[in-house]
Amino acid sequence: MKLDVLLGLQWGDEGKGKIVDVLTPEYEIVARFQGGPNAGHTLEFEGKKYVLRSVPSGIFQGNKINIIGNGVVLDPALFKGEIEALEASGHDLTKRLLVSKKAHLILPTHRLLDACYEAAKGDSKIGTTGKGIGPTYTDKISRNGLRVGDILHNFEEKYNQAKNKHLKILAQYGFDISALADIEKEWFVGVKKLKEFTFIDSEHYINDAIKNNKKILAEGAQGTMLDIDFGSYPFVTSSNTISAGACTGLGISPQAVGEVYGIFKAYCTRVGSGPFPTELFDETGDKLREFGFEFGSVTGRPRRCGWIDLVALRYAIMVDGVTQLIMMKSDVLDTFETIRACVAYEIDGQKVTDFPFEVDDAIKPVYIDLKGWQTDMTKMRKEDEFPTEFNQYLAFLERELGVPISIVSIGPDRDQTIIRK
Ligand code: GDP
Ligand code: IMO
Ligand code: MG
Repeated sequence: MKLDVLLGLQWGDEGKGKIVDVLTPEYEIVARFQGGPNAGHTLEFEGKKYVLRSVPSGIFQGNKINIIGNGVVLDPALFKGEIEALEASGHDLTKRLLVSKKAHLILPTHRLLDACYEAAKGDSKIGTTGKGIGPTYTDKISRNGLRVGDILHNFEEKYNQAKNKHLKILAQYGFDISALADIEKEWFVGVKKLKEFTFIDSEHYINDAIKNNKKILAEGAQGTMLDIDFGSYPFVTSSNTISAGACTGLGISPQAVGEVYGIFKAYCTRVGSGPFPTELFDETGDKLREFGFEFGSVTGRPRRCGWIDLVALRYAIMVDGVTQLIMMKSDVLDTFETIRACVAYEIDGQKVTDFPFEVDDAIKPVYIDLKGWQTDMTKMRKEDEFPTEFNQYLAFLERELGVPISIVSIGPDRDQTIIRK
């Protein structure tokens, strides 16, 4: 049995949470492999809406096992808040959610360091989610991090050591740490809550599951264009969001990977700073934001909006080895007369189709205009109801991207999903 991977192909918020929930009935285990509470994965069903940050999106579909893998960074305080909100809505996860001992802990001082480094960057700030993601992964790589398994032995001593290192850095920057005592208090209550869960050696658990023919879905966070190696560096997150991240973030071999589901929106969005060649600053951009309700699920920030970028998508499909595409939020385009797709970039008068090293204002998107379908698709439930122009749009994308689009999402609800034959 192989492990399937589902990940975002753009700058995050493609709709990963919704589709993981839709696909979960086919799987026995759902596992997050990277990122942390910078993620906000939204699910809607039976008139209710949930936003998950660290908990995998497989928790609402029956008795499936959900795993927080070693590649994830976990903030116990935010984790506690998330768990309690789920418990309050009748979802007890203690038996169904397992946490890798090797997942790294986001400490209260990591959150302060995130804010401190952002402030120090001035005009070139990344626009992070402020959750301490970068500093936590930095400590992991520099071998100064604390892991979930550390909670079980001499934790206070290890915690204080790490905290003191951070305090020295914060003092060098003259950063205000008056909020620390309150954050710490909440954080230690979170650690207590975290201890109610089973800590596992997730690499053994997952490899045994694969051997025993259990179906596993690995759920990505963020998106390929935010990958630390291949995204629009330095305006990226601090983990490998690409499919290879599932190998390091769960401890599986590349041979264990089966399908790679790549999710993209029928247009494009981005939160935070960084290049975005097809960004629209006009009323079409405002229309996409309004119709798509493009506001961050973690920070509430308005998302930057623009036309679909096939140069960036082709690049993402290449580095991820995508085998099936999933197109989200096509309903947002339901009223558009014309839909544009960027098929190449023009740089210094040259047409470029490979995503370049430098992505700056010198890039001009080359667009193709397609006829909109101008039909409300949100109540459709079968592929054969699709309007002709929509089928033409799908065929155009499949031709340009070279991978079949196997699922189309036409609204936020679980039911507004069409699996194509
Ligand atoms: P994720 O981070 O990739 O899980 O995506 P987010 O949850 O941050 O953002 C996706 C947003 O779009 C959420 O508010 C979803 O409820 C919503 N959504 C998902 N699929 C669709 C769709 O097909 N149409 C519309 N209109 N909204 C969708
Ligand atoms: P999901 O999983 C969209 C962006 C931030 C910022 C950059 C670095 O919901 O798709 P970080 O806090 O990770 O150091 O911020 O990455 N970012 C996201 N954008 N969706 C996300 O997650 C994101 N997680 C981080 O806005 O530009
Ligand atoms: Mg999101």
